[in-house]
Amino acid sequence: MVNDIDLCVNLGGIAMKNPVAVASGTFGYGCEYAGLVDVSRLGAVTVKGVRLQPWPGNPLPRHVEVPGGMVNAIGLQGPGVDGLIRDYLPFLHGAGVPVIVNVWGTSEEEYAEVAARLDGVPGVAGIELNVSCPNVKEGGHAFGTDPRIVAALVAAVRRRTRLPLIPKLAPNVPAIAVFARAAEEAGADALSLINTIPAMVIDIETRRPVLANTVGGLSGPAIHPVAVKLVWEASRAVRIPILAMGGITGPEQAIEFMIAGAAAVAVGTANFIDPTTPLRVIAGIEAYCARHGLPSARALTGSIRI
Ligand SMILES: Cc1cc2nc3c(=O)[nH]c(=O)nc-3n(C[C@H](O)[C@H](O)[C@H](O)COP(=O)(O)O)c2cc1C
Repeated sequence: MVNDIDLCVNLGGIAMKNPVAVASGTFGYGCEYAGLVDVSRLGAVTVKGVRLQPWPGNPLPRHVEVPGGMVNAIGLQGPGVDGLIRDYLPFLHGAGVPVIVNVWGTSEEEYAEVAARLDGVPGVAGIELNVSCPNVKEGGHAFGTDPRIVAALVAAVRRRTRLPLIPKLAPNVPAIAVFARAAEEAGADALSLINTIPAMVIDIETRRPVLANTVGGLSGPAIHPVAVKLVWEASRAVRIPILAMGGITGPEQAIEFMIAGAAAVAVGTANFIDPTTPLRVIAGIEAYCARHGLPSARALTGSIRI
């Protein structure tokens, strides 16, 4: 600790040595980055979304670069929860970094069963619930677009695990505060936001959608100001801590999120350009605190002046 700044944060029961995590789907299962980054220096690693069974994801092409970011429709490819536990989690457990497992499903029961299997697995520090997936029992609408369904989902998962629960709210809703409160009242320990923003890219020469899935999700610097507003609104609506993400490319955006009300942040798309970005963000937060006479990173949270 160069400047003697206390960087520790507690994210709803997850003890992080600094407030910087990596976002789901942008850092694999950690092991892929082992030769590039000292993974043990991260505040937490959120792994790629996992459901009950292995899942192949969408056909190619499934990502495209756009000005200010990228649009992806990976389609939640993954090894299934048992494959994750067997083949991937031992590496991160060995690295000593808290692991947040991103969970998805197509029914309440599936989310709850995945969460139950993760309870007590060495290294697993918490569960992030990706609510931006279709609910087959409700006509395929995403869980995250109805606050009552979000609340029911959180409550159902809560009954099956003691792990900290972090619903990851969808950004494309009319009033984020309603969803934030619904999740908190149902038993969430923290909130995570934002997920990608629904988007589409068309090749004007062929007049076809670029992605095989036709539509995808926008991430990267283009979504950062949208995310700051949503994090600010959500943080005013709840008492539980917020893990903020969306367009972080350096310390400035992370600090902005924390000033807006986030307790911790996650670096996503920037990992594809420079996987050492999270380490640069950690150093930048520490230097900022020293420069502004703040004793800890926690002192930044919610320090907005309005
Ligand atoms: C290629 C890719 C894959 C992603 N996979 C997941 C996922 O499996 N589950 C999830 O909740 N979010 C997923 N996300 C969303 C990110 O975790 C993050 O919320 C979003 O990209 C915003 O952060 P960013 O702008 O820093 O990338 C994915 C994003 C990208 C770019």
